[in-house]
Amino acid sequence: MWKRLLRLSFAIFTVILAVKGDEHNHEYADKEEVVLWMNTVGPYHNRQETYSYFSLPFCRGPQQGISHYHETLGEALQGVELEFSGLDIDYKLDKPQNQYCEIVVTDEIMRAFSYAVKNHYWYQMYIDDLPIWGIIGEADENGQDYYIWTHKKLDIGYNNNQIVDVNLTSEVKVKLEKGIKIPFTYQITWKKSAITFKKRFDKYLDPNFFQHRIHWFSIFNSFMMVIFLVGLVSMILMRTLRKDYARYSRDDDLDDMERDLGDEYGWKQVHGDVFRPPTYPTIFSALIGNGYHMCTVVLSVILFCIWGHLYTDRGSILSTAIFAYAATAPVNGYYGGGLYSRIGGKLWIKQMVLGAFLVPMSVCGIAFLINFIAMYYHASRAIPLGTMLAVSAICLFVILPLNLVGTILGRALAGQPNHPCRVNAVPRPIPEKKWFMEPAVIVLLGGVLPFGSIFIEMYFIFTSFWAYKIYYVFGFMLLVFFILAVVTICVTIVCTYFLLNAEDYRWQWTSFLAAASTCFYVYLYSFYYFLFKTKMYGLFQTTFYFGYMALFSLSLGVMCGTIGYAGTGIFVRKIYSTVKID
Ligand SMILES: *[C@@H]1O[C@H](CO)[C@@H](O)[C@H](O)[C@H]1NC(C)=O
Repeated sequence: MWKRLLRLSFAIFTVILAVKGDEHNHEYADKEEVVLWMNTVGPYHNRQETYSYFSLPFCRGPQQGISHYHETLGEALQGVELEFSGLDIDYKLDKPQNQYCEIVVTDEIMRAFSYAVKNHYWYQMYIDDLPIWGIIGEADENGQDYYIWTHKKLDIGYNNNQIVDVNLTSEVKVKLEKGIKIPFTYQITWKKSAITFKKRFDKYLDPNFFQHRIHWFSIFNSFMMVIFLVGLVSMILMRTLRKDYARYSRDDDLDDMERDLGDEYGWKQVHGDVFRPPTYPTIFSALIGNGYHMCTVVLSVILFCIWGHLYTDRGSILSTAIFAYAATAPVNGYYGGGLYSRIGGKLWIKQMVLGAFLVPMSVCGIAFLINFIAMYYHASRAIPLGTMLAVSAICLFVILPLNLVGTILGRALAGQPNHPCRVNAVPRPIPEKKWFMEPAVIVLLGGVLPFGSIFIEMYFIFTSFWAYKIYYVFGFMLLVFFILAVVTICVTIVCTYFLLNAEDYRWQWTSFLAAASTCFYVYLYSFYYFLFKTKMYGLFQTTFYFGYMALFSLSLGVMCGTIGYAGTGIFVRKIYSTVKID
């Protein structure tokens, strides 16, 4: 158990260091053993509901070998649990059709297979890290009789000493009946192939889907939106600044009295309150710190994916994300701690602990709930205890200390308040205003445009996550990330400008929440996606879907909120630094 724990924590570091953190280097000599790993079975429409292959009463081949293993933390978290098939496969050695094992259909076996066939179960295997999918069986038209496929015909393509292509054909349908013997057979054919090792994953990618005209169009569309919004914001800035300059040039001719009563209006009135610390400073700075952290993680994972073609390795994107999250933990402490100190917070240790554990705790909370249900169903998605301990160990011994370092740096380097305006001792009352100027309304409306700029990309991301299309267009994702950032910043600046003009100075939370409300729309969209784009069913899959979607939306919200707040912060400093204060 401890050995496994150590190996797991170790694995996430090796995944970055060694691109081939693998059992071998993918090169074979003639007649060398090739391992066929059985991974999972599960209902076709519930891609996340998977069970270990041998949870169905399949039999193993005669070959003895390695029993089972999780390779990396990412795999363990994704429910990859490889087990040796027992089939005898040798490099470049054709095998005629031959039996590898046999089962006698008892009542129980009959029930298990009938259930699997009725629910369109499919299975997944790996050969040399290439995934292979097959369907278990078929029901006849009236749903009375169930048949299972018993013959696996594997066509393996090789290029020199490497495996570059695999096709599986299921043949020989046998009707399930009590008491009969069902022999399972396989057949191996080796074929020379022209595919290079580098391009062997290309056949799993779906360029027609991902590089569809719609995808390009949505990016173009969002670009137009960006141009429009940037125009709007610069107009606002120019207008406010020009008025100021005009006023300053007039200043010399006016006496003080006139100047005070002159064109002081709107946002200028609240200069004594605008830098008043937000309510709930601890939570606020923890959220902002996490937002910066998340942005860093997302950016670095996208860049890693573009650079390293990570989609070909099982679970490596998740491992990279965990690694990036742990390694960039000081970012969280730096921004969270720095902000907390600037707004005059005193309980900095409490703030740091809250900031450090906000994300791990919410992830664990939801994962625990799903795990509970998964364990009830015996699904292979149930995260093993060792993995959970490894994750907790990383939280305690890596993330927390790094956060501490970040917090200390943040407080030392960025902890001094440096507002352009003084904060008045007595808060100014907030005047009555029209209903659409209320922060709650602004917050709700703020998310519409950012959501509009990403929802097509959301469709592609959801589809690749929930339906096993391999997402590989990370360039698009990077572009959409930048578009989202710019749109979010522009929208929150406009929102904040209106808010301040209504002489409401509570801009910090409002700008954060206005940007974060994007995630509310994303979550709504996920309901639409669940109902109309997928055929998932059952308690397990539904909890899994909505649980992880909630996590995804929340992280997106914190990220967008921080981007919006950061952009607005610069804007607010800019306009108030031109205000002339007596
Ligand atoms: C697998 O199937 C594809 C498409 O039918 C074919 O082009 C390829 O040659 C096959 N590979 C092997 C190794 O048989």
